[in-house]
Amino acid sequence: MGLTGIFLVTFLVVHVGINACIWANDGGEMFNKAAHFMGSMVVIRILEVGLFVFIFIHIIQGLSLEISNRSKRGVGYAVGYGNKGSKWYSRSMGLLGTLILLFLILHWINFWIPSRFGDMAEATYEDSPGKSYHDLYSLMRVTFAELWVVIVYVLGCISLGYHVAHGFQSAFRSLGVHNKRYNGMLTGLGYGFSIIVCLAFAMMPISFYLGWVS
Ligand code: HEM
Repeated sequence: MGLTGIFLVTFLVVHVGINACIWANDGGEMFNKAAHFMGSMVVIRILEVGLFVFIFIHIIQGLSLEISNRSKRGVGYAVGYGNKGSKWYSRSMGLLGTLILLFLILHWINFWIPSRFGDMAEATYEDSPGKSYHDLYSLMRVTFAELWVVIVYVLGCISLGYHVAHGFQSAFRSLGVHNKRYNGMLTGLGYGFSIIVCLAFAMMPISFYLGWVS
């Protein structure tokens, strides 16, 4: 789980970086070109297959861990320790993961399926004559005009934030990086990462909905 989790975290860094181009506020030119550049590289296309395989493995590993944890303790604790021994989100990784999966299914229907298999609108730009780009930016504008979609995306990003906040340091612990000297640093890094990345993702639908990008 640690290895697949770290791979998925690196995907998030690339994804949030490319998507952040929407804030160039240039009608989507920088974002559409960046997304096109990524989609046209053979290496990225191969990694894309890897990404879906890793997501699948991560889900199966999570399910089997959850089942094994439950089967080991048939009877609950007599005294509920609440947050004293562990944080609520570290005890709810299965639930958070399921919420992220539900968010992802909607997300793929919104963007990935139209982009790969649909009849996408194309955008052209003066500085690249003869070239056309999937107009994912306009698709985002239409998608995030609906309040319920924006709310589901923000909730998905909050679930992702808590999932990664625990998953980040837990992944390194699983890989054997567990040492008094590094623990504090890794936990802090995990919190910083999850807050920045998930806040940035959540601000994307909000920015479209409120008209901060056009
Ligand atoms: C909340 C703001 C987000 C926006 C606006 C957004 C936008 C997009 C767009 C436009 C695509 C299609 C890219 C293309 O086909 O070239 C895409 C693909 C994808 N997104 Fe997101 N995304 C967001 C958040 C997330 C999050 C939080 C995750 C993971 C938990 C995620 C996972 C994915 C995956 C797995 C794909 C398919 C990857 C691929 O192109 O191979 N996205 N996203």
